[in-house]
Amino acid sequence: MTSNSTIDSSATFADFLDLCQERVNKRLHYWLSQPRSLAPTLLEAMHYATFNGGKRIRPVLVYAAVNAVGGAAEAADDIAAALEMVHSYSLVHDDLPAMDNDDLRRGKPTCHIQFDEATAILAGDALQCLAFEVISQAPLPAEMRIKMVEILARASGTEGMAGGQALDLAAEGRTLNLEELENIHAHKTGSLIQASVQLGAMTHPETSARQITGLDQFAQAIGLAFQVQDDILDIIGSTQEMGKTQGADHALGKATYPSIMGLEAAQALARDLCTQAITALSPFDERAEPLRALAHYIVTRTH
Ligand code: IPE
Ligand code: IPE
Ligand code: MG
Ligand code: MG
Ligand code: MG
Repeated sequence: MTSNSTIDSSATFADFLDLCQERVNKRLHYWLSQPRSLAPTLLEAMHYATFNGGKRIRPVLVYAAVNAVGGAAEAADDIAAALEMVHSYSLVHDDLPAMDNDDLRRGKPTCHIQFDEATAILAGDALQCLAFEVISQAPLPAEMRIKMVEILARASGTEGMAGGQALDLAAEGRTLNLEELENIHAHKTGSLIQASVQLGAMTHPETSARQITGLDQFAQAIGLAFQVQDDILDIIGSTQEMGKTQGADHALGKATYPSIMGLEAAQALARDLCTQAITALSPFDERAEPLRALAHYIVTRTH
């Protein structure tokens, strides 16, 4: 990122993660502390769902993409915050009894357990709306903001995350082939990850077409790898470390990569997707190191 950024691209990956998390948390606090007293419990539930120990991977991807193309972190702060709002909303709804019916998230009771179902539904709705409000007010040219709203809306909607979630639910208890499963994962999880990389790079309009293609290929591979690793952790992870219930997919009869191809093949696939992602970054210099490190992190993470 350029000089007005406070993120040093030569920092270690652990430092980079810390700095990105700090940046986006500051921005999230700003937006969620605006005086909105219409329904204090709703705002409290939005806070609860946002500041509960998430890894902030989508914001980190935004900043890492900005870094790769030589943009400035300041231009991306609101975009990173908006992505995390949509993601946090998607988790609140994903955990609802009508969906995955989970009671533990990020090591704490899920939003509907802590509050109630109606409040959790509304907190998700309101977080999603706030994300678009944030983008609409970001310090970026108006045309860019409109394009960004379109990209995030598509990535979140029927052609993206929500569509993928619908397919995921419809597949419960059914046997899928790999193509069907890839379609679910690429949408329910991959879409927002792709949008993170794309929106980050967009903040720096001088990015070359070759670099944009490389970033798209990177994001596609890493978006799928992220959910493959999530499926793997449902089997080999620990409830305590993940902060969500281990074995939940199996209990619900979810279609997952390990359930279709076996654990070892799924682990090999995750590694292969990581290699594909890094290969796609060949048009980039050392400023793409955080993206490369993220690819490794995504497939080796234990939570
Ligand atoms: C979990 O996402 C849900 C999926 C899309 C697989 P994360 O693993 O990024 O969850 P947090 O934000 O760190 O809690
Ligand atoms: C969730 O996938 C994807 C979204 C929230 C959009 P999962 O249902 O596998 O996520 P976890 O395992 O509950 O975090
Ligand atoms: Mg789910
Ligand atoms: Mg779930
Ligand atoms: Mg999962």
